Amino acid sequence: MQIMDDLRPKTIADASGDVLEIGFGTGRNLKHYGDDVRSIHGLDPLVTEGVRKVDERIERAGFPVERVALSANGQLLRVDVAGRVPRQRPAPDLEPVSRRCLKN
Ligand SMILES: C[S@@+](CC[C@H](N)C(=O)[O-])C[C@H]1O[C@@H](n2cnc3c(N)ncnc32)[C@H](O)[C@@H]1O
Repeated sequence: MQIMDDLRPKTIADASGDVLEIGFGTGRNLKHYGDDVRSIHGLDPLVTEGVRKVDERIERAGFPVERVALSANGQLLRVDVAGRVPRQRPAPDLEPVSRRCLKN
């Protein structure tokens, strides 16, 4: 969508450090992140593991990118390579972020 493409560079230019991108979608913002970004957690209910274009965008990013899904109870969980959210693999290190997001 053109209006979003026009907004991406300016919106994303200020991001730095460890970034939580809410509404990660297909990773179209990735190429706009600058050198100050250390890592991305891409939060989206969409499961895109195995979608070639998205996997390629992530591979091309110059920093680690992890896709996370929001479960029905609001806990952040990692998605495995097959796009499933395994019950046995919660992401405790993301819980403080999850709690902050749910409060706001
Ligand atoms: C307009 S798309 C933008 C996708 C991507 N950021 C981009 O710029 O191309 C909005 C995204 O938000 C996601 N989304 C919708 N509700 C959400 C929610 N409650 N939490 C996280 N992501 C959500 C959708 O699945 C969709 O991928």
